[in-house]
Parts: sequence; C-alpha cells; structure tokens
Amino acid sequence: MYQAHSVTELRQYVQHWNEHGQSIAFIPTMGNLHAGHMSLISKGQSLCDRSLCSIFVNPMQFGANEDFNHYPRTLDDDLAKLAASGCDLVYLPTASELYPEGLDRISQVQVTDLTDHYEGAHRPGHFTGVATVVLKLFNIVKPDVSVFGKKDYQQYRVISKMVADLNLDVQIIGQETTREASGLATSSRNQYLDEEQTRKASMIYQTLRNSAEQISAGERDYLEMERRALARLQDAGFETDYFAICSAETLLPASQEDRDLVILVTAGLGTTRLLDNIEISLW
Ligand code: PAJ
Repeated sequence: MYQAHSVTELRQYVQHWNEHGQSIAFIPTMGNLHAGHMSLISKGQSLCDRSLCSIFVNPMQFGANEDFNHYPRTLDDDLAKLAASGCDLVYLPTASELYPEGLDRISQVQVTDLTDHYEGAHRPGHFTGVATVVLKLFNIVKPDVSVFGKKDYQQYRVISKMVADLNLDVQIIGQETTREASGLATSSRNQYLDEEQTRKASMIYQTLRNSAEQISAGERDYLEMERRALARLQDAGFETDYFAICSAETLLPASQEDRDLVILVTAGLGTTRLLDNIEISLW
C-alpha cells in the first residue's frame, strides 16, 4: 500500500491511475479504523479499480468543547488494517497543508437546509467543517466514487446535497451501518463506554427497531411515538438530544404522506454521545 503525505505526492499516484484508465473509490476517514470503515473500503473496491482512503482528524469540524485533542489516533493499527484490506493508497494530509492560513482564514462550504437540525443544531459549525474538508479532499483526489456510512445519516445526506448543489463530478454511495452483535452501531466513540454503559447502549438500536416495527404495523402518531421513545431512553439513564421521525428526503418531521422515513437519534451515556438511525420504507 502506498502512502502520500502531501498533495503533490498524492497527485502523482492518482495521475498514474488516470493515465491507465483506472477508476478511483475514495473513503475519507478520521482514522481509528473499525469494521464500519472497512466495509466502506470493501464497497469502494467492489465498484472501482483503485481504492484510496484518507486519515485526517479534521479540526474544523470539532467544537471548542469537543474531543478533538482526545480523539483516538491509532495510525500504526490503521495502516496495518488498510494494508490487509488491499487498499491501494492512504492519504495522510497535514493540517498545515490543508489549512495553511489557519481555520479562521479558510473559505467555507455551507450546505443549506439539511444542516439546520439535529447534529447541525447541536454542533454549530460542524457540518461546515465536514463539507469544507470533504470538498477539499474531493478536489485533491478527484475520485469517481466516494463511500460514506449511513451511520452518520445526516452527514451522508449533507455530502450528497453538496455534490448535487455544486455539480461535483463524483458519485456518492451510502453504505449500511455495521453493528456489534448487540445491535450497537460500531463507532470509534464506543471505546469511551465502560462495561455497563456498553450493555445499556444496545437499547438505542432496540428502541429504533421497536419504533420502526410500530410504524410498519400502521402506527402514525409520530409525536407520541417520539415522546415514548425519549421517555424510555431517559428512564434508562440516557441523555437524549433528539429522537426524530423524519422524511428521509428532507429530514424534516415526517408527515402522514411520507413513505420513506428515517428515525434519527442521539443518546448520551456519561460524556459519550452516540448516534444511530433506522430507515423505514412504507411503499
Ligand atoms: P469518521 O467518523 O472516521 O467516519 C468515516 C466514515 O466511516 C464515515 O462515512 C462514517 O459514516 C463511516 N462509518 C463510521 N461508523 C460506521 C459504521 N458503524 N458503519 C458504517 N459506516 C461507518 O465521518 C467522518 O469520519 C468525518 O466527518 C469525515 C467524513 C472523514 C470528514 O472529516
């Protein structure tokens, strides 16, 4: 597996592949790779001739009180996993190359509408940081395909909207969420949980599935369902930011007519915020 540390280095590999007519799948990550990330790489490999993964803990998407400094950085492990997966190239940008004049001077990509609620409301500036770095990475790598996890459903939709709104020439693929045997969505932040919290955390997906089953069985009082689910999680000791039954298209509260739904949830245990969601098709 090749490693590129600078834009110049990276472009040499990419240019070589372009000259040989090889398609490129790009998987941006912040490292601390787990089974969820690896599933994105396999997906990319199934779609393109070459797979390229980036590892960059992007300071621009972290709020002042968030875990940027403590975000797990496990480069040696990550490189071993990537090499074993058959990934062709890993790009390891530096903050000084991506943000030469610092975070305050960089032009910003603000994606409208989809960023107003949920993570956008709870983490002001977060999606601007994500969209800006992803657009920069797309322009550096120029991939044919880029794979994002539906685990971060709102992020996946924000990136898809950016690509549509700005006519970017890349195909965005959404990959299903990888889960632990308990149903808990695999996440770098799961390692912050102690044993009891880990056991409890499986309730998040159980609650999502419960609600999805009730909707599939015909229940339509979404506000009441949200209230019940929030109460259930709070009774179990979660700090809940939202449990929202939404239109999968607009991410606005679902109406009775909507047929493609998604339930978005964030639930905190101690200082750890866990994100999950479930899609429901009523066609
Ligand atoms: P990170 O949290 O490292 O996630 C990288 C990619 O892995 C994202 O597309 C995310 O949705 C996906 N992913 C994480 N857990 C997953 C799981 N359990 N199943 C499937 N996919 C999963 O998301 C980011 O980094 C950053 O915001 C980034 C897009 C790299 C921009 O900095």
